[in-house]
Amino acid sequence: MSAMLLALPGNERMADNLCRLLPAESCPVTVRRFPDGESYVRILEKVSGRHLILLCSLDRPDEKLAALLLLAGAAREAGAASLGLVAPYLAYMRQDSRFQEGEATSARHVAGWLSREVDWLVTVDPHLHRITALSEVYSIPTRVAHAAEPVAQWIRSNVAKPLLLGPDEESGQWVSDIAGQIGAHYQVLTKLRHGDRDVTVSRLDAARWRDHTPVLVDDIVSTARTMIESVRQVHACGLASPTCIGVHAIFADDALEQLKQAGVERIVSTDTVSHETSWISVAEPLAQAVRELLPA
Ligand code: R5P
Repeated sequence: MSAMLLALPGNERMADNLCRLLPAESCPVTVRRFPDGESYVRILEKVSGRHLILLCSLDRPDEKLAALLLLAGAAREAGAASLGLVAPYLAYMRQDSRFQEGEATSARHVAGWLSREVDWLVTVDPHLHRITALSEVYSIPTRVAHAAEPVAQWIRSNVAKPLLLGPDEESGQWVSDIAGQIGAHYQVLTKLRHGDRDVTVSRLDAARWRDHTPVLVDDIVSTARTMIESVRQVHACGLASPTCIGVHAIFADDALEQLKQAGVERIVSTDTVSHETSWISVAEPLAQAVRELLPA
């Protein structure tokens, strides 16, 4: 019998893709709020003895975690044979250390919550920096799907003479991988973060690439300050307006508008988060990673 996929609201497009690719059967759920703000969840079909996949991208996680954990509880109560979580965007990975006395190392706590509720986890390119592998914080089996190949394919089909640029040290891993796949040149800048919305990015030395199309690639675009400061460096160097690619399109508040105003050619992201810029699908690598962990 095939697995059943239970998608939380906002994940419908990815749910359709995963059900088709895995294949899995879609299982309808009700997720809503009581007037007092508490979450209500209900599984609408029999799931006893079935292998279940919860699908919930964890952008804006505080709005979603309660319903997700309740749905996991409902699945266990209903007799699921196993329960996995596909979180195309995995939240809270950036608070991966105690930077100041008294702070929570959020990445560890959230990993603990999820590890207690599900049997396995699949995500796409989590923010691994000071925590270098999910196994350092998750006690359940995990798999990481990578966006590099779909992103590389998109660049190959849509950008002439690309010059890949990474805004900071962490982006070096994606940028070098993608550049290798399409045979493009790349450069990685250095970023200093002074606050949530205050970053500086090092000067770009790329004047000899003026006949190329700059393509900025980062894993997360949240306030977009990292992208915006990088776009400034691209312009300062005399290059053409860049194409900006983010794996995870968080775009807090008016970040998308601000980035557009910075002078960009195009803004594109993957579909780990459902967003108007999500033109690159990572459903194939995600399905492949799920197949590796889903019980037969
Ligand atoms: C952090 O190092 C990440 O790789 C991104 O560069 C960062 O999360 C982007 O955040 P923002 O859009 O707020 O500058």
